[in-house]
Amino acid sequence: MPPRESIVVLDYGSQYTQLIARRVREQHVYAEILPWFADADQVAACRPAGLILSGGPNSVYDDGAPTLPEHLLGAGVPVLGICYGMQVLAHRLGGEVVPGTAREYGPATVRLAAHDGVPPFAGMPSSFPVWMSHGDRVEALPPGFQALAHSENSIVAAMGDPIRRIYGTQFHPEVQHTPLGKEILKQFLYDICGCEGTWTPDAFIEASIEQTRRQVGVEGVVLGLSGGVDSAVVAALVHRAVGDQLTSVFVDTGLLRRDEAQQVVATFRETLGIRLVMVDARERFFAALAGVRDPEVKRRIIGEQFIRVFEAESRRLDSARFLAQGTIYPDVIESAGSATAQRIKSHHNVGGLPEDMDLALIEPLRNLFKDEVRAVGLALGLPEKLIWRHPFPGPGLAVRILGEVTPERVAILQAADAIFLEALWDAGLYRETSQAFAVLLPVRSVGVMGDGRTYANVVALRAVTTDDFMTADWARLPYELLGRVANRIVNEVPAVNRVVYDVSSKPPATIEWE
Ligand code: XMP
Repeated sequence: MPPRESIVVLDYGSQYTQLIARRVREQHVYAEILPWFADADQVAACRPAGLILSGGPNSVYDDGAPTLPEHLLGAGVPVLGICYGMQVLAHRLGGEVVPGTAREYGPATVRLAAHDGVPPFAGMPSSFPVWMSHGDRVEALPPGFQALAHSENSIVAAMGDPIRRIYGTQFHPEVQHTPLGKEILKQFLYDICGCEGTWTPDAFIEASIEQTRRQVGVEGVVLGLSGGVDSAVVAALVHRAVGDQLTSVFVDTGLLRRDEAQQVVATFRETLGIRLVMVDARERFFAALAGVRDPEVKRRIIGEQFIRVFEAESRRLDSARFLAQGTIYPDVIESAGSATAQRIKSHHNVGGLPEDMDLALIEPLRNLFKDEVRAVGLALGLPEKLIWRHPFPGPGLAVRILGEVTPERVAILQAADAIFLEALWDAGLYRETSQAFAVLLPVRSVGVMGDGRTYANVVALRAVTTDDFMTADWARLPYELLGRVANRIVNEVPAVNRVVYDVSSKPPATIEWE
């Protein structure tokens, strides 16, 4: 059941579609993304207070270009078309769209027309900067529409029909480069669609608890805790809903960050009072990984072992009928899309759970973006350090130990990694980076310590900033911090005599080394 107030974002293929939905939700209005060709029932099921048509790569004149389905206008709710969304509105409603060359983006200034002072531009300065999309343009407005803003070269930058409550912007209000974009969206939501802003973490928690209780009844629920944010928030949420009917299983693969297993026990069992089964499977994982150097083989072995351990544990909980998972909205959108991207690493099938477990799934976070998951986690009282924890790969430290994975090498890496992360937290830089970690290289280098020659391990430090983990830049950490971390690692971790910092971006490198 969708929240009682929502906006449907119709996806016309823009790279910014998800961002539009996030921006709407930041204004406390629930937004759901549907493909532009969603049928009337699908749209109606969301009970939208308004529709937003995203941008897209096409021209309205392209063969097979996405169109404006009749039922969208028939829904009788306000519509905002962005970029291609505006053009498809203009084209369909009897205006004239003039083809341009390929679509490009760039900064521009727009001037409000004489009709300023009306939503979604009420109270805004007479001109302001925007992130403009240059491609086709609206040359003649459809009947009933007014130009609300123009760009410097007199192109219609925004149009509106206040009677039918249909609006369009040629520019992108959802991106940061349009500083007033948030305000424009806010006015569309509140002043035009009449939204009240009911989408808050507390409202979500309340609704989710009710739904989980209804779904689960008196049955048992099992959940695989990974130590990451998503599964932690699911655990806290489901526990709120059904208490001891939930059992979480945490597998210590031996490939975790230092003290992670103890921290999970402390947080979930001791602080939150959640029933937790801790499986010490370290020996089993090390045995299976003995002699293995190839990253993809490591991933496969870890994935298989994980499934076996988890399956054996959950079979013991014979009252469990449900499996709770930390699936979040971007996963849902991605798997619904026609992603044909080449597989660089076999990521997401690692650490996954068996498909044939005969348990019904509950996925309370499947409508949430990552930042919303964090807000819910904080509202549920989970510790900040857990909430802001960087993503950690399913195969764990195994893909950060180049070459063979042994308990000794894990211990070296854990020690170096802990020093690096601690220094980042202390410097207030942990949250400034998206992912930071140490990597143990498969080479030795010569060093000198005291009077003696050493021949020991090299540790690489990696820290990146990124929004989506698809591309990433190396983090410009202060030299002074890097120097301090390197010193501590060489002095405190016995088998390491050299530390290097990775300054590669993705692409062409990847974030992890394997
Ligand atoms: P790369 O190295 O491909 O990583 O730039 C992108 C993001 O994915 C994480 N990653 C993994 N996550 N299983 C996972 O669950 C994996 O095998 C895996 N490999 C990489 C990586 O940490 C980064 O956040």
